[in-house]
Amino acid sequence: MVIVCLSGTPKSIVEGLRRRCGERGVYTPYRKIFPDGEQYIRFDFVQIPEFVTVVQSMYPEQDRKIVELYLALEALTGLGAKLDPLTLLYTAYARQDKRFMQGEPISVRALYRGLRALGVSRIVSIDIHTPYPFIEMGFEVSNILPHSYIIAKAGLKIDIVLAPDRGAIHRAEIVAKDFGIPYNHLDKFRDRVTGEITIDNKVLEIKGRDVAIVDDIISTGKTLAKAVELLYKAGANNVYAVVTHALISSETIEILSKANIEKLLVANTIEQKADLPKFIEVVDISEILCKAL
Ligand code: R5P
Repeated sequence: MVIVCLSGTPKSIVEGLRRRCGERGVYTPYRKIFPDGEQYIRFDFVQIPEFVTVVQSMYPEQDRKIVELYLALEALTGLGAKLDPLTLLYTAYARQDKRFMQGEPISVRALYRGLRALGVSRIVSIDIHTPYPFIEMGFEVSNILPHSYIIAKAGLKIDIVLAPDRGAIHRAEIVAKDFGIPYNHLDKFRDRVTGEITIDNKVLEIKGRDVAIVDDIISTGKTLAKAVELLYKAGANNVYAVVTHALISSETIEILSKANIEKLLVANTIEQKADLPKFIEVVDISEILCKAL
C-alpha cells in the first residue's frame, strides 16, 4: 500500500510515516495553483499501486484542503488504484453534525457524502468530532483517540481526568481506564448565536489534585480557559489539557496564557508555528497512525 500525503499533512507526520512505514512508500503528488486560484494535482507513479491510502488534514484553509482531497481521490480512482482506507488527521466541518438551528446545513453530510461516490468505504481518523454521521453515511470508521498515548509520551502525571461536557465523556473514560484514575465531566454550554461559553459550577473532588481536561479541538480557547478557571477555583493543584487538534491563533494563545494553564499537550495533526509558547507541547502521533494503517 502506498501512503499519499496531501498538502495538509504536517511535515512531522510525513517524516514519521516515512521512518516508520517507509517500506510501503510515502508519496506526495505534484500540485500547482492556476492563475485564477483553482487547484491542480497529478500523480506520476512509476508503477501504479493497487492500494493507496490518502492522508489529509484540513486546517488551515479547510475549503481548499477538502477540494484537494476530492481532486486526489478522483485522480487515483482514474488510475485504477483502490482507496483503502482514507486517512483523515483533522476533519474539518465535522462539528456541524446536526441542525442546531432551523435553516442550517448538516455540514459534515454536505461535504463528505460525496466520498462514497469516489469509492471510499473505510476511514481511519484521528479523533474525529464524532464518527456517527460517517457511519450513517455508510463508512466503516476506525477512530483513533490519542490522549493516553500523548499523556504517556509526555510523561504527564495526573490524578483525575475530565471532559468539558457529557458528550465528550468517552475521551475521559478511556484515559481513566488506561491510567487507573477517576474521571468525570463538566457541564459546558455554548450559546449558538453569540458563541459565548458558560460552564456550570459542579461539585468535584479535585482539591489539591492534578487534573487533566481532554478534548478533541481547541479553537478560540474559550472552553479550555473557562474550565481551567473553574478548576483552579475549586482547588485543583495543577490543571493540564490534552487536546488532539490545535486550531490555534495568537488570540487563542493569549486567552490560554491568561488562564494559567500548566501545560497544553496537542497532537501533530496540524502544522504548528515554530514559536509556540512553552506551555504548549506538540506530541508526534505518527507511531499510532502507522500501526493503524
Ligand atoms: C466542541 O464541541 C469541541 O469538542 C470543542 O470543545 C470546541 O471546539 C472547543 O472550541 P473553543 O476552543 O473555541 O472553545
